[in-house]
Amino acid sequence: MKSVRPGLKICANSTENYKQSTKSNQSHTRNETTYKKPKNPFSSMNRIPSGILGLDPLIEGGLPEGRSFLVSGATGTGKSIFCNQFIYNGIMQYKQPGVYVTLDERPNLLREDMLSFGWDLRKAEDDNMLEMIDGSIAKLGLPSDEEYSMQAGFDLDKLLLEIMRAVRRIGAKRLVIDSIPALGFNYENANEVRKAILKISFMLERTGVTSLLVSEVNEGENVFGKYGVEEYVVDGVFVLHYLGLGSQSNRTLHIRKLRATHHSEELHPIEIGTKGITIKTMQSSFGNV
Ligand SMILES: Nc1ncnc2c1ncn2[C@@H]1O[C@H](COP(=O)(O)OP(=O)(O)OP(=O)(O)O)[C@@H](O)[C@H]1O
Ligand SMILES: [Mg+2]
Repeated sequence: MKSVRPGLKICANSTENYKQSTKSNQSHTRNETTYKKPKNPFSSMNRIPSGILGLDPLIEGGLPEGRSFLVSGATGTGKSIFCNQFIYNGIMQYKQPGVYVTLDERPNLLREDMLSFGWDLRKAEDDNMLEMIDGSIAKLGLPSDEEYSMQAGFDLDKLLLEIMRAVRRIGAKRLVIDSIPALGFNYENANEVRKAILKISFMLERTGVTSLLVSEVNEGENVFGKYGVEEYVVDGVFVLHYLGLGSQSNRTLHIRKLRATHHSEELHPIEIGTKGITIKTMQSSFGNV
């Protein structure tokens, strides 16, 4: 592991970005999202903006702060884009540093992919607003050339320690683990993976960050995690679907659970465009059918 980077440095233009993005988010919400449940007047829960266009009006204004959520879906449904958007917009619009733990995709490929949305992860890392932790290659027993990574060979305790250090180093408020099933590589049986998931969830609760855990399931299956515990240890489950029939409207999002929140129970069309994922309503997509 290399030495600790110097202290927290806020991007010079974050405040301006924040103002501009807030404006554009508001106008987006007015134009494209008509669904709105009332805020709960009895709840004192802090919520943070998700950074996902169109999502917050469906969940009482944002994600309950300091909790963990599952982002579940089949391959190619947009789970990694969703999570990067949560982290990147968290940094640029809300000045909340983030940690991205990648266990599936190599960090360099992720950085390259996300540039197609204008999300410069490398710049955010250089500004000490983002830390990428590479666990993608350690699980194969190979060394990583990333600044923050697990050494060759997987060790959950070392990974958790590295995550906690990263959170402290940059004062992270948001965290992603992409993905949980990739952990399965390192264990002989599902029970051990379940224990690992419980351990991760306990650690996340202690760090106080708001986290997204990525899970992979086959389209059409009525489960949200591969090991049967993921959906129970989190406070919310977002399910992404993609029918893959050639039209953007074949992508949808369903909020399967969100504790302490009046949330939309509809199936929402989603679009992946130049700014990432936008959640819509059936009315805004198809009119009053
Ligand atoms: N710049 C883009 N513009 C529009 N659509 C895109 C763009 N980049 C990716 N996509 C769509 O998003 C899909 C990949 O999204 P993502 O990597 O987030 O999926 P995932 O659910 O994480 O997949 P996996 O389970 O394989 O990790 C692509 O297959 C493509 O359909
Ligand atoms: Mg992915």
